[in-house]
Amino acid sequence: MIDRRARLAQADPAIYALIQREVERQEHGLELIASENFATMAVMEAMGTALTNKYAEGLPRKRYYGGCEVVDEVEQLAIDRAKALFKAEHVNVQPHSGAQANMAAYLAVAKLGDTLLGLALPHGGHLTHGSPVNFSGMLFRPTAYGVREDTGRIDYDQVRDVARRERPRILVGGGSAYARVIDFAALRSVADEVGAIFVVDMAHFAGLVAAGIHPSPVPHAQIVTTTTHKTLRGPRGGLILCQEAYGKDVDKLVFPGIQGGPLEHVIAAKAVALGEAMTPAFKQYAIQVVKNAQALAAALAERGYAIVSGGTDTHLMLVDLRPKGLTGKDAQVLLDRAGITVNKNTIPGDPQSPFVTSGIRIGTPAVTTRGFTEPEMEKVADMIDTVLTKQDDATLARVKAEVRELTGQFPLYAAPARQAVGARRG
Ligand SMILES: Cc1ncc(COP(=O)(O)O)c(C=O)c1O
Repeated sequence: MIDRRARLAQADPAIYALIQREVERQEHGLELIASENFATMAVMEAMGTALTNKYAEGLPRKRYYGGCEVVDEVEQLAIDRAKALFKAEHVNVQPHSGAQANMAAYLAVAKLGDTLLGLALPHGGHLTHGSPVNFSGMLFRPTAYGVREDTGRIDYDQVRDVARRERPRILVGGGSAYARVIDFAALRSVADEVGAIFVVDMAHFAGLVAAGIHPSPVPHAQIVTTTTHKTLRGPRGGLILCQEAYGKDVDKLVFPGIQGGPLEHVIAAKAVALGEAMTPAFKQYAIQVVKNAQALAAALAERGYAIVSGGTDTHLMLVDLRPKGLTGKDAQVLLDRAGITVNKNTIPGDPQSPFVTSGIRIGTPAVTTRGFTEPEMEKVADMIDTVLTKQDDATLARVKAEVRELTGQFPLYAAPARQAVGARRG
């Protein structure tokens, strides 16, 4: 029998070795996936604790199990921090993921078959905003608004036209590849006009909202959902923030509606991340995330890449590769071979399929956590351009070595500063 105290390396060498390989990959790769980040050691430590052993169905002080007095305090701290950070009336910290936060939010205010109106997936929306292959498009009647192809920005007049025609029960704001600040007041006025509930999914920009450097949807939307692992830099998971009037329904839909017992170890890690997000260091981090994204977008534009909407207000950009005669799929594979991780992404009006695409999505949250600032973004643009222009094996190998050299200057798991709160520099 395995000694319960045995450390992972002895207890399960196969999994241990794989984790070490992943740590290496993260340490030496250039992580530009817009939805990824590097949680602090404190956040990760909270996740790997005895809290994982506790069943706690219900809510703090209203549980179906005994022995919840400690996890009650953990969960209450997470709730209180989220309320304070986002100035929300009511918070549920239990959603296991962003998708589940959205499912609970929708079901709290709509019946099966009701109409849902969200940003179209090829225009920067998310699967959970009405895609037919997702629960949101299966349980509800999905309809979509889009961005103007000439500006790459949401066309609020079109949103109003579609809403008047389709009469949605839920209007969803937010997306996964939209680089611009969303006019929440404009969307709320559309929702009010047609009698819809306005739900904002701020998963991508939640960290920027937390830092106070991006408009908050909280004053405008009846319900706001988010993931906790993107710009917010917490553990993988979700949160729901809502107006008091929707609190009971949201809570009931999370449990017993769609989930079982909450992951209290992850909730503890959410509390840690929320605490970190309240610090001046996190604000500096968030400011740098946006500066880095803007610097990278400008540097790529200088090298002849088309940036959808001409730039970014946030942590991400969508690069239209058509001027370079490349598909997103090919670009992703080439960059991967050089140790640079991005994801292929459809662009508005994309002639290619979602498996091929004409674009890539690039984000700066992860590289900013490891300490990159504007000069490094210039180097990153150069590396991307070199890989996508030259494409030969020798060049890919050379850039991979450059990536290793650059990331070596900004150690991730070896850097004591990062283990506390902020980015390595700034
Ligand atoms: C806007 C948005 N909402 C929801 C999700 C889903 O989050 P999760 O992967 O935690 O289910 C994502 C994930 O990328 C997202 O970008």
